[in-house]
Amino acid sequence: MTTHQLDLLGLRTTVFASGNRAGLEFSMPIVGALRHYSGRTAAPAAAVAASPEAAPAGPLAEAVARINWYHTLDLGEGLVTPGFYDHRGILPLYGLPERLDGMRVLDIACFDGFWSFEFERRGAAEVIALDIRSARELDLPWRLRETMTEAELDRPFGEGFRLAHEVLGSAVKHTHCNVYDLSPERLGRFDFVHCGDLLLHLRDPARALYNIRRVTRGTAMISDCIYPDLDRLDGLPIMQYDGAFSENIWWRFSAHALSAMIRDAGFDHVAEKKRFRYGPRGEPASMWHAVYEAKA
Ligand SMILES: C[S@@+](CC[C@H](N)C(=O)[O-])C[C@H]1O[C@@H](n2cnc3c(N)ncnc32)[C@H](O)[C@@H]1O
Repeated sequence: MTTHQLDLLGLRTTVFASGNRAGLEFSMPIVGALRHYSGRTAAPAAAVAASPEAAPAGPLAEAVARINWYHTLDLGEGLVTPGFYDHRGILPLYGLPERLDGMRVLDIACFDGFWSFEFERRGAAEVIALDIRSARELDLPWRLRETMTEAELDRPFGEGFRLAHEVLGSAVKHTHCNVYDLSPERLGRFDFVHCGDLLLHLRDPARALYNIRRVTRGTAMISDCIYPDLDRLDGLPIMQYDGAFSENIWWRFSAHALSAMIRDAGFDHVAEKKRFRYGPRGEPASMWHAVYEAKA
């Protein structure tokens, strides 16, 4: 076993590596996700103007600039949040239903709310946006957790969501709930459930998927990073253990592993609907992504 000092989360972090497990090559593009969690970051980027003529200024632009945004959200009046990811251009690649009229929708791990607000725009009767309260609830590896202070562990998440919600005049309902505690008794059941880019960050993705199945009465759209190289081995459901030492990534899924896990959670029909590459805003589209449609 070798030991490395890495500057993750803006913290000097000791990383233990064994064998030929090498996480950085793939995980560097996800660096921003953990930066958001820690709160110990470089100054957030200034708000992005929607057009060069519309340079944002004023109290709202200042409030936007104080937040580390994960999602790029168009807040109107020339103000666009400088998100680590910009899903706006790749939205058509996900194959979302055009309309969700009358549906009860759950957005699991909503972060700043890009998907929740999109589902509202598509006519959902009710959207529940779910996320954890703070980094304390993350599946952090123990050694990394020990490097974080109580204040860092308890820094409330959801600042971006709250601001965007108010500015957009949204009726999306936000709730704190760990996916491990998700149940029909707690939140009811949903016609459409969305879970994007969460499973790779969980120690126990199978348990999360089981809970997702239990609250789905219609369709679940589950998307995550996949590593097609792992599918080379005769279609075996391979997943690579990454240990979350780097950017909180526990697993690299082959497409076969991810679809098998979704099926094993109890979904009757599971189909890979889309596969594409994307990357952080302004960076090459280097990460493979698969979108699964699962019918209850
Ligand atoms: C990589 S972001 C994905 C954001 C969004 N779902 C998307 O697809 O753009 C991961 C999100 O998962 C949330 N999260 C992490 N662990 C969680 C858990 N155990 N239960 C619920 N949400 C969790 C984080 O707070 C964060 O909002």
